[in-house]
Amino acid sequence: MKIKTICCLGAGYVGGPTMAMIAAKCPKIQVTVCDFIQARIDAWNSDTLPVYEPGLKEVVESARGENLHFTTKIKPAIAAADLIFVCVGTPTKSYGIGAGRAADLRYIESAARLIAEVSDSDKIIVEKSTIPVKTASAIQTILSANNTSEATFQVLSNPEFLAEGTAVSDMENPDRILIGGEQTPEGQAALESLVEVYANWVPRDRIITTNLWSSELSKLVANAFLAQRISSINSISALCEATGADVDEVSRAIGYDSRIGPKFLKASVGFGGSCFQKDILNLVYLCESFGLPEAADYWRSVVTMNDWQKSRFVEKIVRTLFNTVSGKRIAILGFAFKKDTNDTRESAAINVCRDLIAENAQVIIYDPRVPLETIHRDLLEVGVSQNAINQNVKVVADPYQAAAGAHALATLTEWDEFRELDLPRVYDLMLKPAFFFDGRAILPLEALKKQGFEAFAIGKGR
Ligand code: UDX
Repeated sequence: MKIKTICCLGAGYVGGPTMAMIAAKCPKIQVTVCDFIQARIDAWNSDTLPVYEPGLKEVVESARGENLHFTTKIKPAIAAADLIFVCVGTPTKSYGIGAGRAADLRYIESAARLIAEVSDSDKIIVEKSTIPVKTASAIQTILSANNTSEATFQVLSNPEFLAEGTAVSDMENPDRILIGGEQTPEGQAALESLVEVYANWVPRDRIITTNLWSSELSKLVANAFLAQRISSINSISALCEATGADVDEVSRAIGYDSRIGPKFLKASVGFGGSCFQKDILNLVYLCESFGLPEAADYWRSVVTMNDWQKSRFVEKIVRTLFNTVSGKRIAILGFAFKKDTNDTRESAAINVCRDLIAENAQVIIYDPRVPLETIHRDLLEVGVSQNAINQNVKVVADPYQAAAGAHALATLTEWDEFRELDLPRVYDLMLKPAFFFDGRAILPLEALKKQGFEAFAIGKGR
């Protein structure tokens, strides 16, 4: 089938940017992005997009109104589409069987039911949301059981590998596009239709095709491997601190081995983001469901190490500040889970702040992109009371306001602007001794010490 009309269910972090890129690269294809949430659609249609990504606005504006549309009118968009991307959320289940680990597929399921209800022509359904292996067959079952017309459905898996903050360049120049389809003539024909869409800008040899289950599983495995590298280097960061080695030197030394490679070896206060933890827990659940407890334990330890890295950092602060932070002001620089995004999902900063507040510290938070409402919401979600937020949390507009009168300062996100901090000014503003905890090791430790700070950085032995 030659694809002329695409519809996308879900206008979030994945759906919005991916469809904008497809529309920009395929002017002959009409692309409609749908969502139930009116405010989100309004934002996509406005000058202030709901997602901040460098370069995204330009891509959206190049196609919006031409062949890129955002709407809450979902049914007509499905009815008109040759191909439907399912980009709805798959949060971790918070109740019942598999709570805390399994993916909650209710949005996927309702999307499938809606597609079956509305469709009266053949459709290719593409799962882009990260989902447990074998979800495609669940979608296929719902579609066939509810099909009231002659329409046929082919389900493909096409996981998204874009990282936040670099979404536009990742999509423009992807390492690979992965598409899984059924090993039947119809399945292969559907797969070829989607290959042709991507081939508008991605070289063919970077478009990998597999069977459905391999594709679904590869997404979880890619994220699990990436997260495992970070937990591995973070475990070594603790050893470096204890022994006097420097974790950045170790990363550099091992990264030169072409079999290891240099990327994703930066020690940190812990990985965050919407994918890593969720996907690993999903993998753990899958292993358990298939009777593989040893494999499950292996992958669970990646998350355990990450949790330890966050609590270890808080302990370091408390212990260094003479075993109490009660009533002390701690400046927190950075709340996003990484730089160049306003996203805070699973950000290490949330746990660090929660634990500091539990120690009765005053946390003064600055992040260049994360607004106060988000910070308050995140802290409430991890159990900090509204009362504690009112009394112990302040959100300020620049790093110097955070530093003013602070006993200690902690960098939790690697924003570029923190590398350019006016250190003498920060030092002057703080109480003495001025403690500096660099949770991202972004500033040279020697320079901090020379300035007079009592400085500590993740993975740097003294
Ligand atoms: C990740 C995957 O990279 C992407 O392919 C997938 O589609 C979605 O999940 P993302 O969550 O946007 O992307 O962020 P990523 O850049 O991978 O960083 C994840 C976390 O790991 C961040 O908190 C980051 O600060 C941390 N990190 C990353 C490190 O601590 N050290 C590193 O060396 C790299």
